[in-house]
Amino acid sequence: MKTAICPGSFDPVTLGHMDIIRRASKIFDKVIVAVMVNPAKKTAFTLDERVLLLKKATADMDCVEVVGFEGFLADYARRRGACAIVKGLRAVSDFEYEFQMALINQKLNSELETMFLTTQAQNMYLSSSMVKDIASFGGDISSFVPACILDDIRERLCKGGN
Ligand code: PNS
Repeated sequence: MKTAICPGSFDPVTLGHMDIIRRASKIFDKVIVAVMVNPAKKTAFTLDERVLLLKKATADMDCVEVVGFEGFLADYARRRGACAIVKGLRAVSDFEYEFQMALINQKLNSELETMFLTTQAQNMYLSSSMVKDIASFGGDISSFVPACILDDIRERLCKGGN
């Protein structure tokens, strides 16, 4: 059985993330979506909130498991028997960071491959930060996040006064 991990901050999950998770689930037998702590980012949603949103958004995907995790991704992948990390690439601006992470993860776990899926054209500009910015100004985010969590995101960002 081939298992992949789709890691990220998912603050919050967008349709761009969902596209990558769905496409990974067609390639691998099992996909673990690892909601993680990125020390470089201050998140609007807590780890538990981000996990809950993803569980709701992937509820119809049988081979997908959502976990919240803080620590080294390469170690977690080893513990779970995952052979690959799958990440989406939008633009050249993503590449340098992702390339560095792929090399570090390869160093920490030589059995682990990193695979990049190119984003769909309509998601090129989409990011969690953009969703938060638009929502904080009361804008319409319905075409950027899964419909089943739209209200949760709006309510939460509104409550937080963001
Ligand atoms: O969605 P993001 O913020 O681009 O995801 C980045 C993330 C969370 C995947 C990355 O920061 C990560 O892998 N963090 C876990 C810690 C780790 O393993 N770091 C690599 C060695 S320094």
